[in-house]
Amino acid sequence: MDVLHTSVMGDEVLRYLAPENEQGELLIDATLGEGGHSELFLKQHPGLGVIGLDADGVILERARERLAPFGGRVKLEQAWFDEYLANYSEDERPTRVLFDLGISIFHYRASGRGFSFSVDEPLDMRLSPSAEMSAAEFIASAPESRLAEVFFLYGEERFSRRFARAIVGRRVERPISTAKDLADIIWSASPAQYRHGRLHPATRSFQALRILVNSELERLPKALQHACRVLAIGGRIGVISFHSLEDRIVKHFFREISKACICPPELPICKCGGTARFEVLTKKPVYPSDEESRDNPPSRSARLRVIRKLAEPIGQAEVTSA
Ligand SMILES: C[S@@+](CC[C@H](N)C(=O)[O-])C[C@H]1O[C@@H](n2cnc3c(N)ncnc32)[C@H](O)[C@@H]1O
Repeated sequence: MDVLHTSVMGDEVLRYLAPENEQGELLIDATLGEGGHSELFLKQHPGLGVIGLDADGVILERARERLAPFGGRVKLEQAWFDEYLANYSEDERPTRVLFDLGISIFHYRASGRGFSFSVDEPLDMRLSPSAEMSAAEFIASAPESRLAEVFFLYGEERFSRRFARAIVGRRVERPISTAKDLADIIWSASPAQYRHGRLHPATRSFQALRILVNSELERLPKALQHACRVLAIGGRIGVISFHSLEDRIVKHFFREISKACICPPELPICKCGGTARFEVLTKKPVYPSDEESRDNPPSRSARLRVIRKLAEPIGQAEVTSA
């Protein structure tokens, strides 16, 4: 199999998430992709087992082929990571959980689902057929105000209203069904100086649609919550994010869960015991090296944050009723 995706921050991920014991540890690779990070771990740590998850069954099969040499050490599941972790009931608790968010180069280059604005493919963008609606269905049906809101909120697109207006103007003439159709409409609606910037004018809107279609920002906090619950004591969770919307969620979540006191503010004295259950190991995010940023440009926006579990969290209900 030709691997299309170059794993990001491999050295840093291995350094922060290396298992402590030679045998008996389990990594949940929550965003398996083509299996690059999993392969690094499996090669370096021969006693480690891996559960690999991906919402996309097509890429999962590519990882299955790549990881076949590791036999029974690897178990793969097609699942949304938040749903899998919510239902995780295996006796074996993971000691490591890795999230490498977003999509893979495979999706841009070979999925045929319209993730890239430079290719004339159906505008789908679903990682899994279980996602509620395709990008084309959203573009065809959403009111102008909702289109603008999505481009602004999920793409931080400053010309969101202008693009929404252009889309609504065009879709009454004929359906917008391919990625290129949409990219051309956005291009035509862009101010001249925006067309010649560092990014294609459709970059942010395409990111926004992908985030929306796959409910990325709703799934992430749920998955982090469940990962913290199922993680073994002493275990670590690493998250690589690629844009500020994701990173903000991770940073805020890690900050909140690692607070010593989790009592509701209205309680006059602390009833939770005031002992931190998690420790943030990366006070500042870790960035790729200059060398990696140069050799693998998609890594440039990556940042890694890591947390360690010190003790079982106390449920909020226990605190309120304590
Ligand atoms: C950046 S790629 C992972 C690359 C991989 N770490 C490697 O080194 O080859 C992210 C993967 O996560 C998957 N993904 C994104 N959101 C997901 C979710 N909510 N649940 C499960 N998989 C998801 C995507 O389909 C994609 O294959």
